[in-house]
Amino acid sequence: MVLTQSIEKVESGLQYLSKSQEPRESRSPNQELLPLTASVNSKNHLEIGGCDVTDLVEQFGSPLYILDEETLRATSRQYREAFKRYYPGETQVLYASKAWSCLAVCAIAADEGLGIDVVSAGEIKTALKAGVNPDKIYFHGNNKSREEIKLAVTSGCTIIADNWWDLENLAELAKLGVSHKAGERIRVMVRFTPGIECHTHDYIKTGQIDSKFGFDPNSLKDVFIYLNKQPSLSCVGLHAHIGSQIFEVKPHHDLADAIVKAFKAAIGQGLKPTEINIGGGLGIRYTESDDPPSIDDWAKTVCDAMVAACNNNEKLPLPKLLCEPGRSLVGSACVTAYTVGAKKVIPGIRTYLSVDGGMSDNPRPITYQSVYRVLAANKMSAELTETVTVAGKHCESGDILIKDAKLPECQSGDILVVTATGAYNYSMASNYNRVPRPAAVLVKDGKVDTIVERETDEDLLRFDRLPERLGTKK
Ligand SMILES: Cc1ncc(COP(=O)(O)O)c(C=O)c1O
Repeated sequence: MVLTQSIEKVESGLQYLSKSQEPRESRSPNQELLPLTASVNSKNHLEIGGCDVTDLVEQFGSPLYILDEETLRATSRQYREAFKRYYPGETQVLYASKAWSCLAVCAIAADEGLGIDVVSAGEIKTALKAGVNPDKIYFHGNNKSREEIKLAVTSGCTIIADNWWDLENLAELAKLGVSHKAGERIRVMVRFTPGIECHTHDYIKTGQIDSKFGFDPNSLKDVFIYLNKQPSLSCVGLHAHIGSQIFEVKPHHDLADAIVKAFKAAIGQGLKPTEINIGGGLGIRYTESDDPPSIDDWAKTVCDAMVAACNNNEKLPLPKLLCEPGRSLVGSACVTAYTVGAKKVIPGIRTYLSVDGGMSDNPRPITYQSVYRVLAANKMSAELTETVTVAGKHCESGDILIKDAKLPECQSGDILVVTATGAYNYSMASNYNRVPRPAAVLVKDGKVDTIVERETDEDLLRFDRLPERLGTKK
């Protein structure tokens, strides 16, 4: 089946396949609706990574996260190569594992040369167990516990100090002799809010002054003075992240100026920083109306802006440049497959198609009013004759995955696929209504591996305890 159908000619699920004439490896996955390997087989079924999605559901059940290894590797490589191409200094791309922290995703990112950004003991342990070198693990968070900081320090990770609480805890731990290796200073980066606004949902903006994350820029001088007096802490650089799902490049251009100025101020206070981390934030294509820049364009903007900012600041030697994308690395590499159950037709008003998952495996629509695309994986060539609302199974009227979706006529048993669900889906999944979290599989060249087992009802009851006095009444 040809992958380059035009929307005008074929009003079917095929329209969601890439319309790009570019070979697969040169497409920017964050600009695609489906993973790079998506195709349609002779049964008119959607295939990802050479695997028939309908067969995968038969084998593994649904809901099912289906992660395409080729797409994840392609995004990782594109980031790494673009930063090398456009930045004349040292670079390191980190994967922001909050987007999806599990062993397989971290291991693939690490295998592609990426480091990992983590925000909890759980994410640190996942990255370590996946084999990530602690030299490439950067620990974030606005309320790290002392135990988490201790784990990160003793494991050899870099700590991103978000506030005074972090700095004081670090100094106290250092006094107690906590370190990775005896006599080694703890590597600390300072996160600050650069005062840069971007156009995205309020909940995922982080660069504005009124934010819970990072130091207020007016307190940076005191932070640098404090750090300069700490013999056990080594301030290795500065960090800022302005938000997520951003389509403009200008905010990242402006960020370079702000962060280089802060870097110079740190040097002015006697510190010797060598690294700048400009965060993540590049958006992805959830629907046809989303038009994010490519990974290459984003990297070029960031790198050029950093070089210009250093040149404009008395030819500051180029720091090592880090970035930490999450959504644009893993988001487009995964789809979620569901099975249709109930169909409710309210004549003249709306048709609801209910699926066997919903807000527990994808909380983004109810949290951020995010819009997704859906297609019928077992009817890819069928005409889109119905406008339906795809509803989740949870006891919440707002548990709607997609409103007014165009689909072929569907009934119970049909397999629906929601696209671009790799980021902030599994990682934000819950057991709301005591629904077990879905399994996740990794597909590549027609082969499939389970990377996360499906939870069972027993798993859900594992941590419940029934006090004896409330025990079963006879
Ligand atoms: C500090 C930090 N870095 C990186 C990211 C990843 O952002 P994104 O997934 O938009 O690339 C986030 C997410 O919001 C973040 O808070």
